[in-house]
This record gives sequence, structure tokens and C-alpha cells, in this order.
Amino acid sequence: MTGTQIDRAAPVAGAGAAPLLRTEKLTMRFGGLTALNDVSIAVPAGEIRAIIGPNGAGKSTFFNCVTGVLQPSAGRILFADEDIAGLPPNLISRKAIARSYQITNILPGATVLENVRIAAQSRHHNWSMLRHHRAYRDVIDKSHAVLASVGLDGEADELAVNLSHGAQRNLEIAIALATEPKLLCLDEPTAGMSVAETHASVELIRRIAANLTILIVEHDMEVVMGLAQTITVLHYGEVLAEGTPAQIQANPRVQEVYLKT
Ligand SMILES: Nc1ncnc2c1ncn2[C@@H]1O[C@H](COP(=O)(O)OP(=O)(O)OP(=O)(O)O)[C@@H](O)[C@H]1O
Ligand SMILES: [Mg+2]
Repeated sequence: MTGTQIDRAAPVAGAGAAPLLRTEKLTMRFGGLTALNDVSIAVPAGEIRAIIGPNGAGKSTFFNCVTGVLQPSAGRILFADEDIAGLPPNLISRKAIARSYQITNILPGATVLENVRIAAQSRHHNWSMLRHHRAYRDVIDKSHAVLASVGLDGEADELAVNLSHGAQRNLEIAIALATEPKLLCLDEPTAGMSVAETHASVELIRRIAANLTILIVEHDMEVVMGLAQTITVLHYGEVLAEGTPAQIQANPRVQEVYLKT
């Protein structure tokens, strides 16, 4: 690993907090392709951390390892000091890690409320509760509250397929929030959104970040620079740089491989 190339961030808000998520030499190989190579990062609790980099840099692969979709080839993933590398997605979800996908991942034929209710219920993983009217009401109430937090409660009875693209992406965030995460991983949450939808999404992410640690993969630099406290730049599966938005914007290596237009 080329440690000398990494620009470490100056202290930022939240940097004093213990890391909620830490990877140590996280490596993911697909046959002969090394999609992640010795990636070691530490994300303090409460931070919004952006992961940026060119197409194919390994950003989604990083999320897939952290959320159990992929089993890493090597390295450790410590969440609140517990190694979760290789655990299946359902167990990782119970550890309070949630994500949204690069491609929208909702149940289009179900209502908006149903989409969130299913996620809220999975948190309790006790199916007998469905027979208990009060427990069921609690889940419904919670689902409405989560929908309200993303501005979708007015659409609760609408079929998800009928929502605008922007509203569907926000529904995905609601589904993730319904599992009561401590860490939320958002993969290109504003992809395909209009300018107005993007601005609304940034506001939404900022609002929910008050009680969460957020990892965000995003190509829209305005979104990244406006939201992130710290940015990690991946390039060919390695950490090329890490720092505040200002440090990353001023970094010649980052400009060369990514920010240059
Ligand atoms: N399941 C897989 N099997 C084989 N190769 C994969 C798999 N997933 C990702 N890759 C490869 O690993 C590399 C990193 O892919 P990844 O999807 O993580 O990139 P990314 O940074 O998210 O890119 P983008 O900005 O385009 O979304 C790419 O070369 C990709 O083709
Ligand atoms: Mg990706």
C-alpha cells in the first residue's frame, strides 16, 4: 500500500469520536481483478463521509462488503469494534447497518406504506407479533413516522411504482431508516434526479444525519462538497486521498484522476 500518497484530514467535527466503522486492509478480488486493495478507513460516529472516485474505483464494492452482499477476500470490517466481515446481509442489518442501492430497490407493486412496513417489521424479526394487534399498530405508526421524516407520508397509500423517480429514491431511504440503522450507506442517492429533487435530497440527508453516521457514494460534486465532513477518494481500489472537501478539491492527484473535467 502506498501510504505516502494519502493526505490525512485535519481534525474535523466528529473526528474526536471513536470510529463507528473501521476497515483494516479490506481487499476484494474478483478472479484476477482486485476491486479493493488494502482499504483502511475509519469513520467516526456522527460523520457524513463521502466516498468518491472514477467509475469502477470500487465504491459499490466497498458498500457490498460492509453490508454483507459480498464476502471480502481479506481484511477486517469493524463496526463498533466488532468484526462483521463475511456476515450475511440479514445479520449485518441486525447490527444496525442499512443501505440504499445504486439501482432503485423497492417493491413497485406494493404501496409506499407497505414498502416501509416490511422493513420496519424485519427489525423486530418476531413474526408472531403480527397476531398481536398493538404490536402491529406500533409498526404501522413507526412506518408513518419514517415516511413523514422523508416527506412521503402523504403518499403512504400510493403504489410505489407511481412515485416520481426522486420520490422513489427517498422511499428507499425511508426503507433503510425503518430498520433503525446507526450506519446508513447511500449509493448515488441523487443519480437521475432533477436539480430540484437533488436539492431536496441534500436537505433530507442533512436532516436525517443528525442521528446517524452516513457513508455516501456520489458523483455529483456539489452534493458531495455540500454534505461531507470528510471525503475518501478511491482509485483502482485503493485510497488515493482523504481529507476535508477543501483539501480534496485542492489535491492535484485527485484533480488529475477524477475532478478534472
Ligand atoms: N460481482 C462482481 N463480479 C466481478 N467483478 C465485479 C463485481 N462487482 C464489481 N466488479 C468489478 O469491480 C470493479 C469495481 O466495481 P464497483 O462497482 O465497485 O465500482 P464503482 O466505484 O461503484 O463504479 P461506479 O461509479 O461506476 O458505480 C469494477 O471493475 C467492476 O467491474
Ligand atoms: Mg458503483
